[in-house]
Amino acid sequence: MRALLKMTAEIAARYLENLEERSVAPSSEALAGLDELDQPMPELPMEAARVLERLDRIGSPATMGMAGRRFFGFVIGGSLPAALAANWVAGAWDQCPSLFVASPIGTVLEEISLKWLLDILQLPATSGGAFVTGATVANFTALAAARHSVLARVGWDVEADGLFGAPPITVVVGDEAHPSLFKALGMLGMGRSRVVRIPVDGQGRMMASQIPSLEGPAIVCMQAGNVNTGAFDPAPEICARAHASGAWVHVDGAFGLWATASRQYQHLVEGVSVADSWATDAHKWLNVPYDSGLAFVRNPATLKGAMSLEAAYLPQSPHREPSQYSPESSRRARGVEIWAALSSLGHSGLAEMIERTCGLAQRFAEALRQGGCEILNEVALNQVLVSFGDSARTRRVIERVQRDGTCWCGPTEWQGRTAMRISVSSWATREEDIERSAAAILSAAAAES
Ligand SMILES: Cc1ncc(COP(=O)(O)O)c(C=O)c1O
Repeated sequence: MRALLKMTAEIAARYLENLEERSVAPSSEALAGLDELDQPMPELPMEAARVLERLDRIGSPATMGMAGRRFFGFVIGGSLPAALAANWVAGAWDQCPSLFVASPIGTVLEEISLKWLLDILQLPATSGGAFVTGATVANFTALAAARHSVLARVGWDVEADGLFGAPPITVVVGDEAHPSLFKALGMLGMGRSRVVRIPVDGQGRMMASQIPSLEGPAIVCMQAGNVNTGAFDPAPEICARAHASGAWVHVDGAFGLWATASRQYQHLVEGVSVADSWATDAHKWLNVPYDSGLAFVRNPATLKGAMSLEAAYLPQSPHREPSQYSPESSRRARGVEIWAALSSLGHSGLAEMIERTCGLAQRFAEALRQGGCEILNEVALNQVLVSFGDSARTRRVIERVQRDGTCWCGPTEWQGRTAMRISVSSWATREEDIERSAAAILSAAAAES
């Protein structure tokens, strides 16, 4: 085991070092090499070192350089050194933190991380929380608590009796809500399309004045950080309107919620803490390895009401039992690397990381604007939307940028315009990476003129 793990550490270290040299996207040869893996399952055992050697030789070149400094696609953080190392230790521990009795360390690290997270994100200290796979499941989890609560208030036990014959729930969303929110609503039986959609402004912010007066069970879903523009829905106005009619307010803050950690950016999330539930990701801006999302619910009893389970063979302790708050029972110990990331950064390091990445996004936008590109959004956070002219040209430039391999950015459609998305979310990105990447993008644009 020791020799194998040492060899693995070597492979991983070499991989991370090589990321600086290689194309961010895998080469076509590396992708073609994947065919070598497509073989019948071996009849006989293979030595672990050989398995690893094969995985590295064929697999490493075929990865996308998401752990590197110049991956700007989707909203993808890297892995902080302490978080990656803690993730390895957690793998060795092989803990199942569904119950305190099953994994005291896994359970306690979640309990501590939850306390720290509520403090950093300035959410009510007594809120409940769930450590889940990502913001999609965090939205699902928080909305399950919302569904539980708004139906319980009219005397309906949705966990026991389901939704057949239940009083209808009005669900209000902004027109620019993230697709994962609709997926969560669909999984919960509340319907992807059975929603009241509120128009948005040019940055994708919900126009709160258009929220109709609500009667009966109702959930208003707002967003802290639009996936394209980074813009925030106006929380104070939305919460005031929704709460005046007794509606639950849920906040999808997959990455935007982390702005709270910085004095410079926390004005963007003003009023968000008045909501009833929140979803965010740790694998985005906190820079822990996948998968790691977080759901927080103001009243822990509603989360427990939606998620609890009981069995004689699952003994409960006085500790917070994770499986009472989360859709999963058995799962990995996600609190380990969250605790490690927060310990290694401290308050100041986390604020610095948020501010640095936002500053780098500003710089990126400025360099591209000066190079003649059109920036379609107000760069208030870490997201930049770039147009290179018409849709066809913008798409050609994006493909050229991806082929060039200096950096990686993806396409999107923003209010009728095709755009290139840039998301600066990695702890590792430096100023020189922005300069190198902006130069590569401008030269791709020049080649497509
Ligand atoms: C606002 C928002 N919500 C939800 C998600 C889904 O997150 P995940 O892929 O971690 O489930 C994203 C992903 O980018 C997002 O930006």
